Parts: sequence; C-alpha cells; structure tokens
Amino acid sequence: MSLEQEIQKRRTFAIISHPDAGKTTLTEKLLLFGGAIQTAGAVKSNKIKKTATSDFMEIEKQRGISVATSVMAFEYLGAKINLLDTPGHKDFAEDTYRTLTAVDSVILVIDAANGVEAQTERLMEVCRMRNIPVIVFINKMDREGQDPFDLLDELESKLNIRVRPLAWPIGIGSRFQGVYNLYDKSLNLFAANKTKIEKEVVNIEDIHSPELDTIIGKGPADQLRTDVELIEGVYDPFDQQKYLAGETAPVFFGSALNNFGVKELLETFIRISPTPIGRTTDVRNVEPDEAKFSGFIFKIHANLDPRHRDRIAFLRIVSGMFQRGKFYKHTRLNQEMRFSNPTSFMASDKNVIDEAWPGDVIGLYDTGNFKIGDTLTEGENMQFRGIPSFSPEIFRELINMDPMKTKQLEKGIRQLTDEGVAQLFVMQPGNRKIVGTVGDLQFEVIQYRLEHEYGAKCRFESMAFHKALWLTSENAEKIQEFIRVKQGQIAYDKDDNPVFLAPSAWMLNMAKQDYPEIVFHSTSEFKTEIAG
Ligand code: G4P
Repeated sequence: MSLEQEIQKRRTFAIISHPDAGKTTLTEKLLLFGGAIQTAGAVKSNKIKKTATSDFMEIEKQRGISVATSVMAFEYLGAKINLLDTPGHKDFAEDTYRTLTAVDSVILVIDAANGVEAQTERLMEVCRMRNIPVIVFINKMDREGQDPFDLLDELESKLNIRVRPLAWPIGIGSRFQGVYNLYDKSLNLFAANKTKIEKEVVNIEDIHSPELDTIIGKGPADQLRTDVELIEGVYDPFDQQKYLAGETAPVFFGSALNNFGVKELLETFIRISPTPIGRTTDVRNVEPDEAKFSGFIFKIHANLDPRHRDRIAFLRIVSGMFQRGKFYKHTRLNQEMRFSNPTSFMASDKNVIDEAWPGDVIGLYDTGNFKIGDTLTEGENMQFRGIPSFSPEIFRELINMDPMKTKQLEKGIRQLTDEGVAQLFVMQPGNRKIVGTVGDLQFEVIQYRLEHEYGAKCRFESMAFHKALWLTSENAEKIQEFIRVKQGQIAYDKDDNPVFLAPSAWMLNMAKQDYPEIVFHSTSEFKTEIAG
C-alpha cells in the first residue's frame, strides 16, 4: 500500500471521561468489535482505587497494566484504529494531557446521570486548546438520568463547544427503548445484551408513520416526534468540517455496559473522524504525507523491573514511514540512533514491527536518551511543538535524607521528571529542588521509586505556592528586574526558563498589575495556553 493509502486507513484517538463514566467499559466493547479481544472483562480497569492512595502495589500494578494497555490497535471495516489509553485517576491528569498531543480526535464519555463533571471540564479545556475534534457518547442510558436536552445544554455551556445530536434516545432508565438515528432514519431498539454484538434495527422512513406507535407505543412515539422537531429547529445540520475544526461535537446516546449504541458510534467515528494530521515544529509544519519520516515522544514508561533500568518511549509517527533498524536523528541530542526492536501494541501483547506509518504509535526501548517532546527525523533539524508543561497545582521541596546518596537522588529525580512523573524546578541559592505535580499521589510514587530504583531516600516539605507561571515580555529588562525583585519566588524549569511561583492568586494579580509589560503564562508553550 502507498503512504497515502496507509494514512487514509488510520484513525488515532483517545477516550476521555470523568472516572466511572464508562471509559473502560466502552474501550472493551470497541476492542470486541475489532476482534482484539474475545471476551468481555478482558480489559482491566486501570484505575487506582480511590481509597488506596498509599498502596504501592496498586501503583505498581497500575504502571504494569497501563504499559500493556497504553495503545490498543485494532482493525475494523478496513480502518486501522489506534486507541490511546489515558489514566483514569485525576492525579495523573498531566499524563492524559500529553497523550492528547498524540491523538487526532477524542471520544468523550459522559454519564447520563452525572452530566459534565470536574475532570470532563479540565480534559475538554485541553481539547479545546488544540481544537481536537470531539464526539460525545452519553452513556448509561439504561439508568435513570437527566433529560437529554438538559444534558446537551450543559455540554454547550460548560464545555464551550456546540453540540449536534446524531441520534436521539427514546426514554431513559426503565423506560429506555432505544435510539432513533436522525440521519439513517432508523430505530435501534434496546435489548440488554452484555456480551453479544448484535442489535435490532428497524427502518422508519417517516417518523409520523403509525408503525412507530406500534413499535414503541403512542406516548413515546409522540414524544420522539416532538423531540425530533425541536432538534431540527434548534440545532444546525451536522457539518463535518465544523466537527473536524473542533467547533461542533456530534452526540450519541447508548449504554456501553449493554453494548448498545457502540457499533453506531464506532462506525460513525470511522466515517467522520480525521485521518492522521500533521504537527507543528519550531521551523515549519510537517504534513503526514511527506516522504521522510518524523515523529515525537509523548510518553515514557519505566520498566517495572528495577534491575533493568530500560524504559519504553512512546513515539507518535507524524510523517513518512518508520523502519526498523534504520538510522534516525534525535534532534535534541544531534545524534543518529537506530532501533532494532520497535514494538507495536495490539491490545494486550506487544509485537516487534518492521515498519509503521503516520498516526501509529510505537514503543522504543530507551536507556535514558529520551525526554518527553523529543523529536526523531530523517536528518532535518526540527523540534515538534505542542507538548507543553502545564502549571502544577501542588508544590513540595525535595529534601535529601541521605547525603551519601546525593548523586543517586539527583539522577533519579531528573529521570523521573524526564518521564513526566512530575515537574522539577530549581531554586537558587542552594540548588533547592521544587517538585510540582497535579496530584498528591505523584509524591508517593516519586518517593517510592527513588528509594526502590535509585536507592535514594527523600522526604517532601510543603510549599505554599499557588501556580507556576512562565514569563515573556517584549522588554527583556523588565523580566530581569522582576527576577531580581521576586528572587524568593523564582525557580528554573527543566529547560532553564525562569518561572514565577506565585504564592496566591491575589499575589499573582498584584504582580500582573505591577508588571504590565510581562505576560504570565500557565503553560510552558505560550501560543497554546489554557485560559486562566
Ligand atoms: P471508567 O473507566 O470511566 O472509570 O468507568 P468504567 O468503565 O470502569 O465504569 C464504571 C462503572 O459504570 C462500572 O461499574 C461499569 O460497569 C458501569 N457502567 C459502564 N457503562 C454502563 C452502562 O451503560 N450502564 C450501566 N448501568 N452501568 C455502566 P462498577 O460497579 O463500578 O464496576 P464493575 O464492578 O461493574 O466493574
């Protein structure tokens, strides 16, 4: 097959949701369709049990499971689908943000009873920032939930995106009878069905036909007629271009647990979702159909076995064909490298691959050469952008507990932060190390891993910082002045950029007022900033 055909075949996406909305269940059903797994229950939830925050075995288990299920590739109706897993636990949100840099679209799962939840909002902010096309799946229609119109309003108001239902539910909970497909004009009747992948579909050419009353009853039929009229009146017709631009999100209703509405979702997804798209580098845009290979690292996973220090770096291919054993340029290190055992991820097992195409994600064995955001090319000097660091929310100072192990600690914390477990900021004088994360759990992970993998003991001391802000200004002197004045609140990030650690929202506002010439950014890549 030609490069163009390989590109046309591929769809690379992630499922995002607030924990418990049904991401794992939906993933499993999609894999069943793709034949990647044979039985329900094969995909383990990769959630860390919310109560067991200090259960290290759980953390280890989580790491193990998430390597195996990091990328699940399967084929369906001639499409090669790469589904990238995102951690469910909110403390690993940054991992999810980075995974979103490697996908071309997402499916957002919403619990029909709970509607838009906190984690949904945060994840969608990241999608909106990058204009990632979104399809919404409103799940658990077999349970009592909110009115579908209210849910759509909530999606629009809280997620700042326009929505367009492509199907409409008939009743909910105990009255749930199925969904009416607004485009095919067909009725998909609900039958609780946990394992099989069959369904009952009735074509209804005219929604006003009395046949509808016979099938679902007069009351529900009249309700559906009113609802459909309202939808056609209120919502613009579905426009694929607007979906691809990230402006409109098509909405489906179903029940992942009952495997209801999943096939429609998958088939529409294949039909409308984007094929692999290009990415921006510091010098130019790269298109997938360029003959020369390029790609970037968006995730690094340490080996579970502490005796083997190797790690797996996840590479998203942006352009051209990747080949096993060929030399590629690691542009940050300006070094040629080749990979003799690149792996693909077909559901639960890993296979060595000879070639891979745009949209694919492969695993590269790494002995410490990669950092998140690193770029591989066929020789061109460029660096992919759009893999920003986000301001952490919790800051603690790393205190060395064993002066004899200073070197190990230094090395360990550098490697862990390269992996993206947390962000490291260094404060002067004294080389103080400030670790920033989005969740408490990371501190336990770091402490545990430093001790078990590097033999270094540490503890953490709380620091009352509110946010880390990256600084830019047209007037470089102003930044220098700011750094001098705020010395105790300035630290340096992994690339040696100065960062203002604002003690509170109020102090940040004061700083903004006092230094109107300085722009304060909450991500390290300023053009793609999250508001606030
Ligand atoms: P997550 O990955 O988004 O965190 O959610 P997950 O799929 O684990 O689903 C969370 C819970 O919701 C699970 O129940 C799951 O069975 C249930 N669920 C998912 N889809 C549906 C649905 O369409 N209808 C109904 N009624 N329930 C659904 P659990 O009791 O937490 O776990 P389990 O013991 O069933 O595995």
